[in-house]
Formats: sequence, structure tokens, C-alpha cells
Amino acid sequence: MNQPTPPYVPRIRDPATPIIVAIDGPAAAGKSSTARWVAERLGFYHIDSGALYRAATAAVLRARSAQPWDEADVLSAAQRVSARDERRSFVLLVDGVDLEQEMRGGLVTQHVSRVAQMPGVRDWVNGQVRALATGRSVVVDGRDIGTVVFPDAHLKIFLIADPWERARRRLIQRLGRAPGDQAIAEETERLVQRDARDSTQTVQSKDAVLIDTTYLTQEEQVERIVALVKVLKADKSGTRPDEAGL
Ligand code: DC
Repeated sequence: MNQPTPPYVPRIRDPATPIIVAIDGPAAAGKSSTARWVAERLGFYHIDSGALYRAATAAVLRARSAQPWDEADVLSAAQRVSARDERRSFVLLVDGVDLEQEMRGGLVTQHVSRVAQMPGVRDWVNGQVRALATGRSVVVDGRDIGTVVFPDAHLKIFLIADPWERARRRLIQRLGRAPGDQAIAEETERLVQRDARDSTQTVQSKDAVLIDTTYLTQEEQVERIVALVKVLKADKSGTRPDEAGL
């Protein structure tokens, strides 16, 4: 049987070259928090592409006569979204107002998968992400960053975790305490359904480094990715992560 080829991490020759790190994976695999932390550690910007889908959804839900299932309405509402640069991250605004709470709420979560299926909306988000990334080193998280948005990203990570563990982490984050098995089981069911809705766009690039975080702490995940970026910047031509002992 053929052994899979280890992911190749290209060397960055010019230290001034902006570096793009793509982190993809299913819902609640810890992409955004890991991406934010990795960006902080490296002094890079963090871009959360899912937040742009959420902002467009929040904008269309706020517009009185607009329908969230109508692509033209969503695209028109998306024109009211803007990004404010804040400490190497971007706060998304709708009509100049920070709607972070609303964007993470149940109503937006209910509609966003459908909005994210619309080709025009995907083009709009991809354009926004590329514009925000221009000229800077970034860690971008989403579903299709390594395949569609930045197929030439210097480092691609695909984060996965067991659905039960993802559900458990999400509940701890939401409730601030350890959840019971029944609650975890119900959340697992919701996550699996969401995975199915988002499955077409959640794609692991062939050259992505797969990290299963089920048994890793957040520090360990962040450490691995930071170590891979350091290999990328190291002065060793053609170093593979396995040769570097990572
Ligand atoms: O990661 P999240 O839950 O904030 O993402 C919100 C929605 O956007 C979810 O339905 C998946 C979708 N999404 C996408 O299709 N492509 C991306 N690059 C990021 C998110």
C-alpha cells in the first residue's frame, strides 16, 4: 500500500514576504480560537471568514423587506457590511454598528448555512477576505480557505475533532461549566446536522496538514501550528515537517 506523502512546507526566502496560513475544518473544531491565538503568537492578522457569512446573514435579516433566501437581497444587504481593523483582527460592522452578539445568535446560525451556499455570496466573501489579507501576514480560518480562497497558502491546516468532543467544548464555552451527557448528545446531533449542511464547502486540501484535536489541549494545537510556521520561515530549503521532527 502506498504511504501518503507528508505535507510539504515550502521555505520562505524573503523574510518580508507576507505569509498566509489557512485553517479549515468542520464547525466547533476550534478553528477561530486557534487561528486567533496563532495569529497573536506570530504577530499576524486574524481573519474569520465565517464571520463574513454571518455578517451578511445578520444584515439581510435586519433589512425589513429583504428575504434571507433571496441571493440578490443578501448581496445587497452585504454592501452594508464593513470591517474595522482592531488589534490585528477585524471587527465586522453592519451599517457601522458592531453586531457580534447578533451574528453569533440562534437566528443567524439558523440561516447562515443556506446563505453560505449562494455562489454570489461566496464570491463576495472570498473577495473581502482576499482584500483584507492584501500585503499582510494572516491566519485565515474557514471551510475552503486552503482550496478556494488561497490555494497557494504557505501553510494549510485542516482541524478535526470527534463530534462528541466538539459538542462538549462548545457547551462548556456556552454554559461556562461541564455539561451532562444528555446535553452533549443533543448538541452532537445538532453539530452532525450542521456538518452535513456545510459539507460541500468543507474541503480538506490535499496538501493540508491534518490535526486531530480530540486529545489535544488548545495550547498544544497552537504550539504545533506555530512550530510549522517556524519551519516555513527557517533557513532550510525544502524542509518537511516530518524531517523537522514535528
Ligand atoms: O464557522 P462559522 O460557524 O462561523 O461559519 C458560519 C457559516 O459559514 C457556516 O454555515 C459555514 C459557512 N462557511 C463557509 O461556508 N465557508 C467558509 N470559508 C467559512 C464559513
